[in-house]
Amino acid sequence: MTKAVKGTHDLFGEALRYQQAIVGTARSWLEAAGASEIATPIFEKTEVFERGVGASTDIVQKEMFTFTDRGGRSLTLRPEGTAGVVRAYGEHGMKVWPQPVKLWYAGPMFRAERPQKGRQRQFHQVGYEVLGSTHPASDAEAVSLSYFILRDLGLTRTRLKLGSVGDAESRQRYNQYLRELLTPYESELSADSQRRLQTNPMRILDSKSDTDQGLLKRLGVRPMLDFLGPAAREHFDAVRKILDELGVEYEIDPTIVRGLDYYARTSWEIHHDMLGAQSALGGGGRYDGLSELIGGPPSPGVGWAMGIERVALAMQAEGVSPAPGKRLDIYIAPLDASLVPAALKAATELWPRLRAEYSLSARKPGKAIREAEKRGAAYVGLLGPDEAASGVITVKKLDTAEQRTLTPAEVVAWLTEGGLE
Ligand code: HAM
Repeated sequence: MTKAVKGTHDLFGEALRYQQAIVGTARSWLEAAGASEIATPIFEKTEVFERGVGASTDIVQKEMFTFTDRGGRSLTLRPEGTAGVVRAYGEHGMKVWPQPVKLWYAGPMFRAERPQKGRQRQFHQVGYEVLGSTHPASDAEAVSLSYFILRDLGLTRTRLKLGSVGDAESRQRYNQYLRELLTPYESELSADSQRRLQTNPMRILDSKSDTDQGLLKRLGVRPMLDFLGPAAREHFDAVRKILDELGVEYEIDPTIVRGLDYYARTSWEIHHDMLGAQSALGGGGRYDGLSELIGGPPSPGVGWAMGIERVALAMQAEGVSPAPGKRLDIYIAPLDASLVPAALKAATELWPRLRAEYSLSARKPGKAIREAEKRGAAYVGLLGPDEAASGVITVKKLDTAEQRTLTPAEVVAWLTEGGLE
């Protein structure tokens, strides 16, 4: 049998309930903070990511699903959401809206990474972007929302790592330092990192090669945080001060390097203690300058995204369950095969207030009750010729055997008054 593509998953049952719980909790926090939902296309012109995420990143170098359409244009399945949201902000003139504009999104992202636990080729993110503000309160707001959402989901074993990747000028100085430090050891670096040494030395810190990481450790590389210029330092200190006032717990990570090039100044990641290698539940940062990179108006921004599957794994690891699936309210069984359409009609009159299913074949009452129980229904509805003729259903509550003959409107009233979930 043909199976789903490696690194992609069908979502149903409990896995989908985790996703819904995570998106639902995120939605309630983000909308409370004044954000509106945005759904950008799943594919964009390749240049949006090449320029936005950065040509020297692993994402652009190795992980994008890029294809040529019938008109010869290069398109890419989105590896992340920020570049598309920033493109939409510029394209729809949101710069003249009251600022900042707060947008949130949830949906599938695509990266051609080697699949393993917590790492898929199609995965889902929920994300938040605040556009049009350089105020450190916006950074602190975004960080704190990512923290509060994970806490509200019941997670306790998380660690928020906060750092700064500096502004363009501090990064230039840091890249210069790294180039001088590493050039004498160039031959010891992996082929990828030799290339990075020319294009963007900071990316070497993010290398997945053990020999690269060994060399960095041996040389005792100084962290980016040591190279912050006065403006970037002042911004970082202001963000920290606000986070302290908000009671958000974080640790400073002077070595934080995010996998995307558009970051400037504040950057953070939230890791989970029980997830092993793929421990990042989410990450984000400030990205002033991204809009210009993709041809939009100058507009600062800050935001984050969480990996929904990873948050679900963390919830499972901590024994936190999503709300159970909604059970079937009523199973309607026709006593005669000719009454199947009448059973369907009765169900349509209960929808959408009640979750009702009907049987496609005749059922004797005993069998109808067993079927209803198998499907997890709370009530069974029996529909014989007499009931059909007078537009009623005989409804039995399965746990108490209490029975009433009612019109569909009365069934809705009885079942909802009975405190159905
Ligand atoms: P990111 O750190 O690349 O940031 O991804 C955010 C989260 O998505 C990760 O922490 C991880 O939980 C999840 N994730 C990434 N790749 C995979 C994968 N292959 N399989 C499963 N989960 C994965 C961004 O994407 C930025 N756009 C975040 C952002 C928004 N920055 C500013 N605004």
